[in-house]
Amino acid sequence: MAQIIGVGVIGMGWMGTVHSRAYLQAADRFHESGIRPRLIICADDVETRAKEAKERFGFERYTTRWQEVIANPKVQVVNVATPNHMHLEVVRAAAASGKHIFCEKPVGKNSQETAEIERLARQVGVLTFVGYNYRWSPLVQHARQLIGEGRLGRLTHFRGRFFAGYASNPQGVLSWRFQRELSGMGVLGDLMSHVVDMGLMLAGPVKRVVGNRETFFPRRPLAMPGVGTHFTVGGGGPLGDVTNEDYASALLQFANGVQGNIEVCRVIQGHKCQFAFEIEGTEGALSWDFERMNELKVFCLDGNGSHDGYTRLVSGPAHPDHVRFNPGAGVGLGYEDLKTIEAHHFLKSVAERRQGEPGFTEALRVAEVLGAIERTCETGSWQEVTRIASRASQS
Ligand SMILES: NC(=O)c1ccc[n+]([C@@H]2O[C@H](COP(=O)([O-])OP(=O)(O)OC[C@H]3O[C@@H](n4cnc5c(N)ncnc54)[C@H](O)[C@@H]3O)[C@@H](O)[C@H]2O)c1
Repeated sequence: MAQIIGVGVIGMGWMGTVHSRAYLQAADRFHESGIRPRLIICADDVETRAKEAKERFGFERYTTRWQEVIANPKVQVVNVATPNHMHLEVVRAAAASGKHIFCEKPVGKNSQETAEIERLARQVGVLTFVGYNYRWSPLVQHARQLIGEGRLGRLTHFRGRFFAGYASNPQGVLSWRFQRELSGMGVLGDLMSHVVDMGLMLAGPVKRVVGNRETFFPRRPLAMPGVGTHFTVGGGGPLGDVTNEDYASALLQFANGVQGNIEVCRVIQGHKCQFAFEIEGTEGALSWDFERMNELKVFCLDGNGSHDGYTRLVSGPAHPDHVRFNPGAGVGLGYEDLKTIEAHHFLKSVAERRQGEPGFTEALRVAEVLGAIERTCETGSWQEVTRIASRASQS
């Protein structure tokens, strides 16, 4: 029997529209699940965006006041796709109303805020989910399975990087992402959160870190309010200060002895969206790059030196969720397909009333590593990754 889940989406920019489409797609791609999201209400303080989203995706209504999404009795899950500075306030209200919550990464502007958000949801027992979408690539899931089966032997190395060129033009506008007040961390929250999530998922908990960060373009043209995205290029107008980092890197020591090396940048030339990892063990190695997300390089020692090197797999029916999109191997998936898989796993957890993964607990583990990287950037010395409790729970 079909299970209808009422959805409210807050923030109808890039992610809000992607998520709305993903809920519609999830009902189709995972049809036999019987889960039928119903788009109830969307909110954006820019009315044209809210209105257009209602028309495009078929929401029953739209509003410029996000509180109306949470107050709507038909809304069972609240999807938070606003700039980062609003996540805490929206999650607090949604949790207080007993609504399940999907929140985009980085869940909090900083580690302390993520701890507070995790506590708010846990204390009232609502289900949570987080937008670490790159996990859902069929070949990343396959990589996770290979590691889980011990095919790489004892893990030894993890390298992760997210090299994006979205701000490589110094005339790229000063959107909320570049302002600490609105975004919190810069690339640490934006890009490194994905890399750290991947590292924790594949290689386990991180023990300590040492790292560095830099802002290459300290001033940018002011953005027009309510217009454009962080890809928008301005020029000619007044400039404002960039108040968070363009670049960050760190060495990691994982608890199991894996040695890690991670690096992210939003202003790099050449690379466009290279979210990539390599992971090696005593008996094998894997290599994946989002820019070629339908390929995974695999090497497993089998004692035959004549083919001692990587094999290139292409995504196909043998890999998780591939057939939801295409019946054959080599007919690949794209970014938004990962969001559709993500939406399905979230809705399934709600339908089954069980906490899925990645939820706020996983986001807090990521935030703890990011917090340690921030500390090492201040001190220049190795920092232990420690558990963070919300200040409210300490008092
Ligand atoms: N997982 C991913 O791959 C991914 C990619 C991009 C962004 N994100 C995350 O998604 C979130 C949104 O990013 P985005 O790129 O969609 O940003 P965006 O700027 O494109 O969209 C944000 C929207 O929120 C709206 N908004 C601002 N204040 C509001 C308010 N008071 N009430 C209602 N709406 C309001 C803005 O008008 C805008 O339409 C961020 O947390 C970001 O880090 C995740």
